[in-house]
Amino acid sequence: MTIAAPEPKANMGQPIPRYDAVAKVTGKAAYTADVALHSPAYAYLVTSSIAKGRIDGFDLAAAKQVRGVIDIVTHENAEKLKEAKLFSNGGHASTTIQPLKSAEIAQEGQIVAVVLAETFEAAREAAHAVKVNYAAATPTTTFDSPGTTSAPAKGQLARFKEDPRVGDFAAAFGNAEVKVSAAYETPTQHHNPMELFATSCVWNGDRLTIYEPSQYVHGLKNGVAEQLGIDPDDVRVISSYVGGAFGSKGSMTPRTAIIASISRRLGRPVKLVATRDQGFTLSTHRAETRHRIQIGANRDGRLTALRHEGWEVSSRPDAYVVGGTKTTTRLYACPNVDSLVSIVRADRDTPGFMRSPPEVPYIFALESAMDELAVELKMDPIELRRINDTAKEPIGGKPYTSRSLMACFDEGAKAFGWAQRSAQPKSMSDGDWLIGYGCATTCYPSQMAPAAARVRLQRDGRTRVEIAGHEIGNGAYTVIAQAAAERLDVPVQKVSVFIGDSDLPPAPVAGGSNSTASTCSAVMMVCDQIRQRLFKAVMPNESMIDKTKETVGLGQTPVTQAAKSDRSIDMERAFDALGVSVVEEYGEWKPDGAPMDSFRAMHDGQMRMVGGTEMKDNIAYAFGAEFVEVRISRWTHEIRVPRMVGAFAAGHIMNPRTARSQLMGGLIWGMSSALHEATELDERYARYVNDNLADYLVPVNADVPSVEVIMLPEQDDHINPAGVKGIGELGNVGTNAAICNAIYHATGQRIRKLPVRLEKLEI
Ligand code: MOS
Repeated sequence: MTIAAPEPKANMGQPIPRYDAVAKVTGKAAYTADVALHSPAYAYLVTSSIAKGRIDGFDLAAAKQVRGVIDIVTHENAEKLKEAKLFSNGGHASTTIQPLKSAEIAQEGQIVAVVLAETFEAAREAAHAVKVNYAAATPTTTFDSPGTTSAPAKGQLARFKEDPRVGDFAAAFGNAEVKVSAAYETPTQHHNPMELFATSCVWNGDRLTIYEPSQYVHGLKNGVAEQLGIDPDDVRVISSYVGGAFGSKGSMTPRTAIIASISRRLGRPVKLVATRDQGFTLSTHRAETRHRIQIGANRDGRLTALRHEGWEVSSRPDAYVVGGTKTTTRLYACPNVDSLVSIVRADRDTPGFMRSPPEVPYIFALESAMDELAVELKMDPIELRRINDTAKEPIGGKPYTSRSLMACFDEGAKAFGWAQRSAQPKSMSDGDWLIGYGCATTCYPSQMAPAAARVRLQRDGRTRVEIAGHEIGNGAYTVIAQAAAERLDVPVQKVSVFIGDSDLPPAPVAGGSNSTASTCSAVMMVCDQIRQRLFKAVMPNESMIDKTKETVGLGQTPVTQAAKSDRSIDMERAFDALGVSVVEEYGEWKPDGAPMDSFRAMHDGQMRMVGGTEMKDNIAYAFGAEFVEVRISRWTHEIRVPRMVGAFAAGHIMNPRTARSQLMGGLIWGMSSALHEATELDERYARYVNDNLADYLVPVNADVPSVEVIMLPEQDDHINPAGVKGIGELGNVGTNAAICNAIYHATGQRIRKLPVRLEKLEI
């Protein structure tokens, strides 16, 4: 082993292929449902067909006749599990509606029975033969349904901290030279990850192993332990690969503890693979939202007043909101700002995070209204954003750690050909097609959370990295390998990455675009601890002298600047001097500003996310500018999006290849959100109608002819050691508005309620 690596360097910032690419394309990657169990019982769920009421009784005679049936578990014979607290209120659960506890029904699709059988087919057949007698009550479904209640979010759940305001909105709006006042609406949406909601449980004595696709194995482990009343260290969650999640696999759903408890009672492994339609109610969804935006501005375009009011639907028992005014009230310079978010309760399942949770609906409203203001002012929409660009957020006056919004607009505009746009609506066409150009700001808070890692370096350069991060398609394996390869100066081919297992050192939820920043910062720190040991062995004097700047991993040797520097270390000599063949270090990293209890919370599966608007002296966001061309048939009103361009600045990009996929996926999903996706509600029954991938519309290749992703270089030294701002959720935030703005440009018609469907166009 010499100082210079023989293979090409695959350091942070290089577009190396995915670490898990070959495993995935060859089918070697084992997802939860692929994991073979020894003699499992197969579980099939029976779910409620009513949204509100009671179960009067069951008729199980026919179901029990099915050959191979082992047991049928209902609230009458189920083990009573302990309460599950909502994750956004300091617990782990996606909902406090806990099935199989009583005869009460609180949502459509609630689990009412679990059929266990020797085969999947027998379990399914028997489940369909279960007869449930309900005493149904009339449910309340959504906004405007009789019986809904609406109240401000503040004070209803711990995670919702503020309705930002500053100055005197009412006076400023009253005096404004130009005003925009409009209402916007976004629909219910479901994540629909390709991989279904599966759970397998295996007991070995008192120890439980759970196979489940999860964005947060430490949260799930602690949550299930709490519900079962056992020691969290007796629970292990394994989630090596996740076939899509987008928020739906971030918190503990009721099914996991139920399957674990049934498996314990049966004394054999139990395997559940829920169906696609059950997935619509087993996990969370994006709730429908409403918005009222009022903007006042001077004739020159400067904002003088902004008010954003938002309403979101949640379930009866759980006060859940995403609450996005913390972003929209801070995006542009404006001296007088006001906001209010309210929760509307209905007889529904509890919603949850879905990709770019607050920003997708809230930025749609704001960025549509900004376009409406540009029209009022007869001003180019990019120029309107430039006039109101700010280095400091207006609410608390805190500076952005870095903000390249206008650079993104300029680069994006150039690549898109924005200069060719004629400003007048309906002024561009090509034969039968009306053409519209639209753009919008995109942004997402840069967040981080404490993470721990263990790294082992062998004399021959082989490196093993252990951290309970999550591969949800985000490229986690790849960027973690790159971080270790760079800090230890070993070829990336020699780095093995172990993630997705709660027996590994804890890492935060793979959500809120925090994964790369958190896990890579921890891995880099622990690698530096190894560097320190090696460095000290070969250059004892130098490492002693340099004590100016030290970082300390919990209970570890301080790492000096000399060891952290990029200088190569002669590993042969270092290992000889140490007289060992392996150096291993464990360390716990936390971002600046993380609270005192961060590390304890990390082990307990509790999030202590910092960043975004919740920093002491700064505010941290990644930015981008999104451009779309729409073409609308004059005759059929068919809407096409021939091209999209996104220009993004998100600090250090660990791997441009995986990052490009993330951002491209985001843009495509944004387009899908604007034009395709909506879960239709049957208001009579508070039921989801299109709970399958035939009726829940998502784009196909023909819908996405061209997507261009531009990544602007950006250095941010204030956020974390990796300089990473996060990109997972950045791509699809601005797209809804960009598309509606383009549709306005093409047709002169402003659509304020998503999704845009051709029957809404009146051209
Ligand atoms: Mo994301 S919606 O935080 O998985």
